[in-house]
Amino acid sequence: MAAEPFRPTYHFTPQRNWMNDPNGLVHYEGEYHLFFQYNPHGTDWGNMSWGHAVSPDLVHWQELPVALAATEAEEIFSGSVVVDHDNTSGLAGSSGQVPLVAIYTSVDTGTGIQAQSIAFSLDRGRSWQRYADNPVLDLGSTEFRDPKVFRHHDHWVMVVVLADDRVIQFYRSDDLLSWTHLSDFGPAGALDGVWECPDLVWLPEPETAGGGRWVLVVSVQDGAPAGGSGMQYFLGDFDGVAFTADGAARWFDHGADCYAAVSFDNAPAGLMIGWLGNWAYQKSVPTESFRGAMTLPRRCALRRSGADLRLAQEPVLPQLGPPTLELGSTDVESGERPLPVTGSALLVELTLVAGSTGFAGIAVRVGGAERTLIGYDADAGELVLDRTRSGAVDVGDGFAARHRAAYRPVDGSIRVRILIDTCSVEVFAGDGEIVLTDQVFPSPTSTGLALVAEGVGMEVTTLVVRPVLAVDPR
Ligand code: FRU
Repeated sequence: MAAEPFRPTYHFTPQRNWMNDPNGLVHYEGEYHLFFQYNPHGTDWGNMSWGHAVSPDLVHWQELPVALAATEAEEIFSGSVVVDHDNTSGLAGSSGQVPLVAIYTSVDTGTGIQAQSIAFSLDRGRSWQRYADNPVLDLGSTEFRDPKVFRHHDHWVMVVVLADDRVIQFYRSDDLLSWTHLSDFGPAGALDGVWECPDLVWLPEPETAGGGRWVLVVSVQDGAPAGGSGMQYFLGDFDGVAFTADGAARWFDHGADCYAAVSFDNAPAGLMIGWLGNWAYQKSVPTESFRGAMTLPRRCALRRSGADLRLAQEPVLPQLGPPTLELGSTDVESGERPLPVTGSALLVELTLVAGSTGFAGIAVRVGGAERTLIGYDADAGELVLDRTRSGAVDVGDGFAARHRAAYRPVDGSIRVRILIDTCSVEVFAGDGEIVLTDQVFPSPTSTGLALVAEGVGMEVTTLVVRPVLAVDPR
């Protein structure tokens, strides 16, 4: 397996086969659980089941056996897990255990009908039993999926999509088993693709004692700015019945490969993981025994800049080695200046002052004609992640593209943290107000780095490169 050229060093992947959305993210008794959309029988989408992995720290992951397997009658689509501390569901029976309760979309393989169903575990997620009276919420629809449940005061709330209608529905329940419709939100914002995998999270507002906003996140299967699928979010208010947006939708990630991100239950609010993939081309990415990785876990928070309130994301950092390169203030003339450091699993922290025109940034995974460019386009006022020349493999379907996000430098200065892995690049700009996540498939030998300026040059204020250590006892 070590010989697989695109197996990530520190992003979670299943040992083999297809994976898409994270499901059932929950923290319980010292373990983070990551369930995921999984095909136990192949590297293409199908036989949808819940794979399973656990981690003590969000860095070291151990894959466990499939938690919920597809049957001839039922596929298991996306959903969530909650810790039913007070046994409101009664599913603990006389065991005295705290039930972990999974609320997932069961797809009837005969009719295609998608309904919400329950499974539960009384042994820390190791074994799961289907609830006898499934489904618990059924509209007879073939486009009703991805329930995300959370505790709200003294009851449970579910957000779930009518995918085709681009509508998020809200339901409430006292026992997780019977559900009452509260309200609908949408269509709003981006409508080109069907809506999937909603989440609703309350986050504190900076400098506002006790205040906060609700963040409604939804994945959109097509028409995102980087092409294909992406995620949008709305800030707003949830009064226990309905969600009202403050303003327009924003994009959660401006790269092409962050999808279906949802938050952990029973953990600090806003801790999320997404799927490092895109429905536009995922079927043809050139990995071998597995297909699909997760993004790094991210802590989301609200950040204010003047009147503007937005979501910012901070990566949960992997295990790092000591710096292999540290640069202080350096003037860089127009051109490409190779750096004396290499690696395919790195954290790069770069602060620079861009010129008044042209491009200023860094090339990573450089080798021969291959390079992935990250930087600031001063003419457009945009941060750029350019994978048009990232690798020799032709993934197709719009993969080779330059992804961009409007960005205003702070006091003329641009700060980026870049997490590079065998088949991905994640860019967090500033305090994480702008994030770009892309898959890339360079040759294993393309491990170079170079400072790149086009136009009038740039001033690098600081540059620190550290290796990411392989941690996985797979
Ligand atoms: C999102 C999604 C969900 C669905 C699952 C099926 O990527 O399409 O809407 O539950 O994947 O694997």
